[in-house]
Amino acid sequence: MMPKPTQVTATVPTHVAIIMDGNGRWAQARGLPRTAGHRQGAEAVRRTLIGAGDLGVRYLTLFGFSAENWRRPETEVSALMGLLRVYLRSEIAELHSKGARVRVIGDTARFAPDIAALIHQAEELTRDNTRINLTIALSYGGRQEITAAARTLAQEARAGRLDPGAITEALFETCLTTAGMPDPDLLIRTSGEKRISNFLLWQCAYAELFFSDTLWPDFDRHHLEEAIAEFNRRQRRFGAVAGAR
Ligand code: IPE
Ligand code: IPE
Ligand code: MG
Repeated sequence: MMPKPTQVTATVPTHVAIIMDGNGRWAQARGLPRTAGHRQGAEAVRRTLIGAGDLGVRYLTLFGFSAENWRRPETEVSALMGLLRVYLRSEIAELHSKGARVRVIGDTARFAPDIAALIHQAEELTRDNTRINLTIALSYGGRQEITAAARTLAQEARAGRLDPGAITEALFETCLTTAGMPDPDLLIRTSGEKRISNFLLWQCAYAELFFSDTLWPDFDRHHLEEAIAEFNRRQRRFGAVAGAR
């Protein structure tokens, strides 16, 4: 008889969110312009998406550009927009063939019309895909998202369509850009920084946090596996007492 393979009962987090940080430092360390780091970062996105899909991650949410990143020098912002344009143009078909459902969250109204159109095209083309849900946060800020949800609910209440007493967490969630998605189980940040930087503030209430010193352009499947292995060593309690019934 063949020996039984060792059983590895690792839990794959349903939803992994990543703050992809360190592109600039990656480039600086090589004497290259920061844009070179962003370009290399796009390769890491490709690798990570494939790795996550193979591992069985159902939702992958990537922080690509924050609402606060508009504060960067004009030259860097326009280089990032150029790369985003190139990435969307070259990757939409590939993402579709890999079975990824693409969604973009954030204030996309701030993007050039052709980029907004590419985003729309990607979302439409991939809307029925089920292998993995890829959400890209662009011009995204958690506080802005929560404020917008509060504004929507306030308008509904003022119009007499909503009783403020009926506002629950579940109702509030329906007003977020991530409505219908499970909360992240694992939040990874690369580059050694240990902060949230206004990413998914509401949704990460109980996410396990994993900080990696790896700079985003160097991130690959092994780093993702390492983060998931660490996730498996954590005990999630959600405020309760472990082991109690
Ligand atoms: C992350 O890399 C990408 C974006 C925020 C757009 P950075 O550009 O922040 O790289 P560092 O943090 O300066 O190294
Ligand atoms: C967060 O990184 C945003 C993205 C990774 C897209 P930043 O580099 O903008 O964050 P801070 O400024 O170091 O907090
Ligand atoms: Mg950074």
